Amino acid sequence: MLKIAVLISGGGSNLQSIIDNVNSGKINGNIEMVISDSENAYGIERAKQFHIKTYVINKNKYGKNICDEILKITKGNVDLIVLAGFLSILKGDILKEFKNRIINIHPSLIPSFCGKGMYGIKVHEAVIESGVKVSGCTVHFVNEKIDHGAILLQEVVPVYFEDTKESLQKRVLEKEHILLPKAISLISEGRVKIVHGHGKID
Ligand code: GRF
Repeated sequence: MLKIAVLISGGGSNLQSIIDNVNSGKINGNIEMVISDSENAYGIERAKQFHIKTYVINKNKYGKNICDEILKITKGNVDLIVLAGFLSILKGDILKEFKNRIINIHPSLIPSFCGKGMYGIKVHEAVIESGVKVSGCTVHFVNEKIDHGAILLQEVVPVYFEDTKESLQKRVLEKEHILLPKAISLISEGRVKIVHGHGKID
């Protein structure tokens, strides 16, 4: 059974989708802990409701050392780290210790609309401004370069002329709630590899 840590910064709707899929048996794993970099994240309440261990590692307090603190808690205790709306950037030893064992969900079709400063509603704003006709979400592995690790899964959504950044965000988020648990499920079944830097599903 896959031992999972979920890292969050906000509402935690993606965390909820993971909890639901673990509880229904679709993910052969267990959420060992939820870690938030902000004490105001509603996701912490969601975790508590399901009696999941929670940690708050306040980014304002820990600053650059936040990654070391996360590593201390996760090392040896989990197999997979899932970034589910986690806004701090992971750097240093944790990336070595958990090489190919950290995944992130990004609310666009990488390599478009991603990278430094491109998070949350800003992504959807940029998509609307560009006039593209499709957007979506991506689950990818995490490495030293922001939003640059091997892509595991992507899902497309249409962008309508009438869309606002908020309406697009809602449509993408619905897909995120399917895609992220699906990725974790595939990993828990041992079906995911990285071959020549690309995600391969058997
Ligand atoms: C999601 O859109 C996720 O892709 C992005 O931040 C948002 C988090 O939403 N990185 P939630 O906290 O899971 O509700």
